Amino acid sequence: MSAFQTAIVPAAGLGTRFLPTTKAVPKELLPVVDTPGIELVATEAAEAGATKLVIVTSPGKDAVAEYFRPQPELEATLEERGKADLLAKVRRAPNLLTVETAIQDKALGLGHAVACAEGNLTGADDAVAVLLPDDLVLPTGVLSKMAAVREKLGGSVLCAFDIPKEQISAYGVFDVKDTGDDDVKQVVGMVEKPKPEDAPSTFAAAGRYLLDRSIFDALKRITPGAGGELQLTDAIALLINEGHPVHVVVHRGGRHDLGNPGGFLKAAVDFALEHPDYGPELGEWLRARLAGS
Ligand code: G1P
Repeated sequence: MSAFQTAIVPAAGLGTRFLPTTKAVPKELLPVVDTPGIELVATEAAEAGATKLVIVTSPGKDAVAEYFRPQPELEATLEERGKADLLAKVRRAPNLLTVETAIQDKALGLGHAVACAEGNLTGADDAVAVLLPDDLVLPTGVLSKMAAVREKLGGSVLCAFDIPKEQISAYGVFDVKDTGDDDVKQVVGMVEKPKPEDAPSTFAAAGRYLLDRSIFDALKRITPGAGGELQLTDAIALLINEGHPVHVVVHRGGRHDLGNPGGFLKAAVDFALEHPDYGPELGEWLRARLAGS
């Protein structure tokens, strides 16, 4: 039995950094090579044991959930034409896990978005995973490490990256204590988007959370924080203050930020360079382009 069955993906934002495209296409569906970012995140959740994905979405973003529904007509056409590879690609997302939606009709913050998914939980959900679709954490597998830490130490477990101090104000930042394990730290405090001089460490939340169900009670008790929004960080800080165990797994791998065009392009180039069809030619072109020819 996995430590969690349900993964929540907050995807209700307007995607303003990708305007004008996001007038018509949700940013979660923009392709990293040929696959939408949200499928990469859903695959990660399924690989870690999730059987249900709750996409928190806003009115007008139905295409995100639609992407996970089977497309019988398209599948029949591809089958008739003998396009087995394409058929497998088309069937991949609907076969990953069960997808449900929860509607966030006001942009009140990440904490509020997560709280909107409470109605989708069952009595069996003692803990939930939250994956922010802007963050690709590479290589995948950190959620399984986080689940192992919850099993051993209980409570909630988050993923931390060691971030350069000058960038720390963009993140939720952990106040940590060492445990015997270099990759696992106890969290004794958490603060959303501090000034660099106020940051308790350079360990920042990076879009992967394994949260005890008690988070939903804490989310009902927070008030607007950084940016005037209901922050998930503040609900976690509240649990810590009440003695709830919180730990981080320090991820030493890579990370892409799909939330802005610059980060998105790096992810697309990174994935394309690894792709057998596109990698070799792209690599050659990039080398020539950067050499100025
Ligand atoms: C959110 C969280 C923040 C976290 C970050 C990771 O911030 O509020 O704690 O560190 O995601 O990407 P956002 O990037 O939505 O401002």
